[in-house]
Amino acid sequence: MFGGTVRLNPLGVFIIVALSILFFVSLNTNLLRSYDSSKKEPTVSQNNISLRKLLSDCILLAEGGGRKVAEIRKDTDIGETSKGKTKEGAKNVVTKADYNSHCVMYYGLKEEYPTIKVISEEKNKDCTGIPSLDNSKILETVPSSDEYVPATDISVWIDPLDATLEYTENLLQYVTTMICVAVKGKPILGIIHKPFEQEPNTYWGWVGKGTSSNIKYVPDNNLNKIIISRSHTGNTKNITRLAFGNDAEIVEAGGAGYKSLQVATGNFDAYVHTTAINKWDICAGNAVIKALGGQMTTLSNESIDYSWATQAENTAGLLATVKNHNIFLEKLSHVKKQ
Ligand SMILES: *[C@@H]1O[C@H](CO)[C@@H](O)[C@H](O)[C@H]1NC(C)=O
Ligand SMILES: *[C@@H]1O[C@H](CO)[C@@H](O)[C@H](O)[C@H]1NC(C)=O
Ligand SMILES: *[C@@H]1O[C@H](CO)[C@@H](O)[C@H](O)[C@H]1NC(C)=O
Repeated sequence: MFGGTVRLNPLGVFIIVALSILFFVSLNTNLLRSYDSSKKEPTVSQNNISLRKLLSDCILLAEGGGRKVAEIRKDTDIGETSKGKTKEGAKNVVTKADYNSHCVMYYGLKEEYPTIKVISEEKNKDCTGIPSLDNSKILETVPSSDEYVPATDISVWIDPLDATLEYTENLLQYVTTMICVAVKGKPILGIIHKPFEQEPNTYWGWVGKGTSSNIKYVPDNNLNKIIISRSHTGNTKNITRLAFGNDAEIVEAGGAGYKSLQVATGNFDAYVHTTAINKWDICAGNAVIKALGGQMTTLSNESIDYSWATQAENTAGLLATVKNHNIFLEKLSHVKKQ
């Protein structure tokens, strides 16, 4: 039975050869694919951005900028130069720390996300040693459910060093580094890093998903604690006093990031600003406060548009609250009409 010769069937040979070729080709493309993705974290597509990955990367970059800010503060020469005066006559300064932090934050983002629009307070093209991003540890600390948005809908606002004047005066508690991601003009991710707390600390909010666990909002029912700027005061103090009366506790502090966090934690009931302020100063705080269910609007109750194509300055004043936004708006509107 088995004595016969094995006859090679031409069709059978063809099928075996064809299957083998198919098998090796598919094996090779799989090898190629895994080789490519092992070179870099799969970025999905440059046009389909994972907000979860973007949040983790922004946390890393705000912290990287913060390390530069802290490092340079130890130097005897922080490279302070004047940018002139603000409209309210306060000193407008910039230091080496603003520029070095900008390099880390701006180019760190641009390297990883070449297609998204990034607006930074500073401009400096002589940047070297841009860090590579390893967000694997931070990814575990951000919400696990993701959201994908087209890159063209994203505008990122960067403040490489908020409260520079206070930084030069060594009032370091007010200093922050901030990144904010707006989607279709709405603030969605806000990252505020404080380099000079006992341990450097990062606070973040993701609208619709939550905030970092170090933000614990504790409400206060007196509604009389208001925080305002110490350097861009203008007539804010007078307006606030008129609106809220002599019982109100009005405290001046540096840094828009600092003041937003004071409201986010319930230490203050409202942050009021009556003069012009730039969007890189307020966008991250806006996102954090919104993530807590609060609001940041102009004094006319308009939401602020953070699309990259809009002007950087918000000139319509600012009110930020976690609760009772309408009560504060009403009181302020009486004064504005006078
Ligand atoms: C974006 O990427 C995610 C994850 O790969 C995918 O689920 C989603 O469908 C993609 N969206 C678009 C519009 O391509
Ligand atoms: C604020 O009020 C004080 C005292 O009531 C007044 O002297 C000052 O001119 C006011 N400042 C502004 C900017 O309105
Ligand atoms: C402010 O706007 C919100 C939403 O757009 C609205 O619900 C609220 O009533 C407004 N407040 C005032 C005082 O107009």
